[in-house]
Amino acid sequence: MPQRLLPLALFASCAALIGLWCLSRTAHAVAMPPGNETIAKSMQQMNDALEALSKGITAANREAALEELAKFESAVIGAKAAVPASATKVDEKKRAAFVADYRKTLIDALDFAAAAERAVIDGKYKDADTLVRNKLGGLKSTGHGKFKTEGGK
Ligand code: HEM
Repeated sequence: MPQRLLPLALFASCAALIGLWCLSRTAHAVAMPPGNETIAKSMQQMNDALEALSKGITAANREAALEELAKFESAVIGAKAAVPASATKVDEKKRAAFVADYRKTLIDALDFAAAAERAVIDGKYKDADTLVRNKLGGLKSTGHGKFKTEGGK
């Protein structure tokens, strides 16, 4: 290679390396929020179910209520296996405990939903209502306060 082309070749190699580094960072950034898409979708499904259930559970709508509870439960199962983006902001040493707490809070949601389902099956509609409004509603604020990056909703 002619001597005068050497700086040009060096410059081109550096530019290529910087380009590759930027690309790898972008790919990393896209992959970074692990499970967030999954959580957002599941939460949307939980929200739709909870909104329908919050209108009140009665003998007249028991079948629809059971369907909504099933939708809620399957969405919770989807969300609890994922890792919230908020975990990346937690000190590495405390991260496992944080993720465990996230998962256990959603297991509580599953427990309350199952208890509400049992109440509907037994015809105890008032009990089901209380579980949906008080327990699940309360868990939503607690969960968002602790684990949702932009705060509660
Ligand atoms: C119990 C009823 C709950 C309902 C109805 C609910 C609903 C929602 C909704 C509507 C969103 C916004 C989703 C979107 O971006 O489109 C959301 C986000 C989120 N929720 Fe919940 N939530 C509930 C409970 C919880 C609990 C118990 C936790 C934690 C243990 C939790 C953690 C989160 C997180 C981490 C996000 C952010 C997801 C993301 O990164 O986009 N939620 N939730």
